[in-house]
Amino acid sequence: MITIKSPHQIEKMKRAGGIVFETLELLRELVKPGVSTEWLNREADAFIRSKGATPSFLNYNGYPKSICVSVNEQVVHGIPGSRIILDGDIVSVDVGAYFEGFHADAARTFLAGNVAEEVKRLVEVTRECFFEGIKFAKAGYRISDIGKAVQQHAESNGYSVVRELVGHGIGTEMHEEPEVPNFYDRHRGSGAKIAAGMVLAIEPMINLGGKEVTLLPDGWTVATRDKKPSAHYENTIAVTDGEPLLLTWEERGPGG
Ligand code: MF3
Ligand code: CO
Repeated sequence: MITIKSPHQIEKMKRAGGIVFETLELLRELVKPGVSTEWLNREADAFIRSKGATPSFLNYNGYPKSICVSVNEQVVHGIPGSRIILDGDIVSVDVGAYFEGFHADAARTFLAGNVAEEVKRLVEVTRECFFEGIKFAKAGYRISDIGKAVQQHAESNGYSVVRELVGHGIGTEMHEEPEVPNFYDRHRGSGAKIAAGMVLAIEPMINLGGKEVTLLPDGWTVATRDKKPSAHYENTIAVTDGEPLLLTWEERGPGG
């Protein structure tokens, strides 16, 4: 069942979203060569709690940490640990916060030190894919129109779209219906009609090489099979009668 949120509920979700946004802005400052992924996790966890929220991911289906940190060929769900970020790494951080009954979820891929031009471009295009997708997050379109737009932008730039993981509805639960694929598959149908009051996490995961991924032995980390880099960009958005409302994003100059 797809839940429709009232304007009041969307207002509350915006507060959860603001905490996620601020956590990502903190992480943007903290991600640099020499820091450990566990330190990033600790700083983010403390920040989320300082705002009176709780990290949505901790203990979710047994997930052991408060954020996900996925480096280079890791696509998503990297578990923070002793790994040290190196010069030239790309670092995807995924943050969820639960505040006054609602979740918000967003991700960014940050550059650590000097990143190869080719990889920087992947990160930029992944961000663009999100903004192409939300052009269709409006009443009257179908969920599949979002994925079509994301896929079109990624593939026309020579990249591939991960199929195993998708965006999702979000609200009182972190993962709600509908699924929001970043690709179009006629066998999976054209998807639900989009309506005002739907809140969606739209999250393109785009690979420099092939689309195939593999699950690492830790049981969580998803990585590309060809070990080429992958980028992730996600925001929680609310569908309105007009333009979609971005709950985990604010205009703060380039890179937002
Ligand atoms: N943002 C992630 C997603 O939508 C949530 C991470 S799930 C966790 O899949 F289990 F890793 F916490
Ligand atoms: Co998500």
